[in-house]
Amino acid sequence: MTEGSFVTPFAQRFEMRVPVVQAPMAGGATTPDMVAAVSNAGGLGFLAGAALPPEKIASEVAAIRALTDRPFGVNLFVLEPAAPDDATVRRALEAIDPLRADLGLPPGQPLARYAPDFRAQLEMLIELRVPVASFTFGLLPADDVARMHANGLYVIGTATHVAEGVAWRDAGADAIAAQGAEAGAHRGTFIGAFEEALIGTMALVPQLVDATGLPVLAAGGIMDGRGVVAALALGAQAAVMGTAFLTCRESAIPQAWKTRVRTMSDTSTSVTRAITGRHARGIRNPLMGRLSETMDKIAPYPVQNALTQELRQSASRAQNGDYLSLWSGQGAPLGRARREGIGAAELVAQIEQEWRAATARIAALER
Ligand SMILES: Cc1cc2nc3c(=O)[nH]c(=O)nc-3n(C[C@H](O)[C@H](O)[C@H](O)COP(=O)(O)O)c2cc1C
Repeated sequence: MTEGSFVTPFAQRFEMRVPVVQAPMAGGATTPDMVAAVSNAGGLGFLAGAALPPEKIASEVAAIRALTDRPFGVNLFVLEPAAPDDATVRRALEAIDPLRADLGLPPGQPLARYAPDFRAQLEMLIELRVPVASFTFGLLPADDVARMHANGLYVIGTATHVAEGVAWRDAGADAIAAQGAEAGAHRGTFIGAFEEALIGTMALVPQLVDATGLPVLAAGGIMDGRGVVAALALGAQAAVMGTAFLTCRESAIPQAWKTRVRTMSDTSTSVTRAITGRHARGIRNPLMGRLSETMDKIAPYPVQNALTQELRQSASRAQNGDYLSLWSGQGAPLGRARREGIGAAELVAQIEQEWRAATARIAALER
């Protein structure tokens, strides 16, 4: 493999020097600065658009385009409009209000809106003609995928098991993001029970490669060049790395969250729906522990997510890691080998070096 060569068709299509996709991360991590830095360094940067209203997606995409001419992606959550009944909201607030009181916040109230309008977000991605669009939490109809194709968008669907990958292929997706159980934050599962969809990256990736015949991007637990080599060996065309980029300088999450990610161990995370109403992997803390004691009161996503938001924002301003949602993958301790506050471009360069060195080591085994 020579310097600058393209290693897979996916990497070639997006002119990537290194087969690494920086995962979209809702919650402040994937700033335009990060996305552009990764794409400029030869990876593929991704903006998390799910929590942003359409106008904000447009301004962030403009900011990315001002910083790079290279391809990048935008990610959305496939969501139906939420219309919770009063009882659901009241029950959820009964569990959340004592935590709000701890931070000096008054009791919570029902909200006018629980999430940005997904259809309006999707229209914005098409209008902006973003190079790559990826989706999680659900499946889009073939009509929507065809319309994106007609407007030049490359479409990636997230799958946590084989049936989801096949469903995305049948809807016309161009590639599959295979999300293993190690991955940080929300599970993308949209068919069947989440407990049955906690398949490790090592088992999931080759099954999706074989079942779909599409380019598969491996996500979950990949933190360095060794992981990238492993992903490619399993048949993936790129590695998707979230947690590795979470603590980068360009990531705008609270320092308290970065510190916990850098000091956690391999056993520090759990998967819970207590914080947002959808199963997600994060570092255990008092917020997770106390909400988990009242699982019967937890509202479904996005209602619970919106109802706990002010509490988490208040904790963020106070740098109080006990009341933040500390999303992180199981591989986080591997990130401690890197300098604190490393820039995203330098991280991509290090991963590229590690990946090339690990590939050479494996090639040497054959002699
Ligand atoms: C803080 C955080 C936020 C995330 N937000 C999103 C998101 O908005 N959309 C999405 O498709 N995936 C999201 N993910 C999941 C990633 O796309 C990816 O599956 C995961 O980061 C890969 O595993 P790793 O964290 O071990 O690298 C998020 C992950 C993290 C850590």
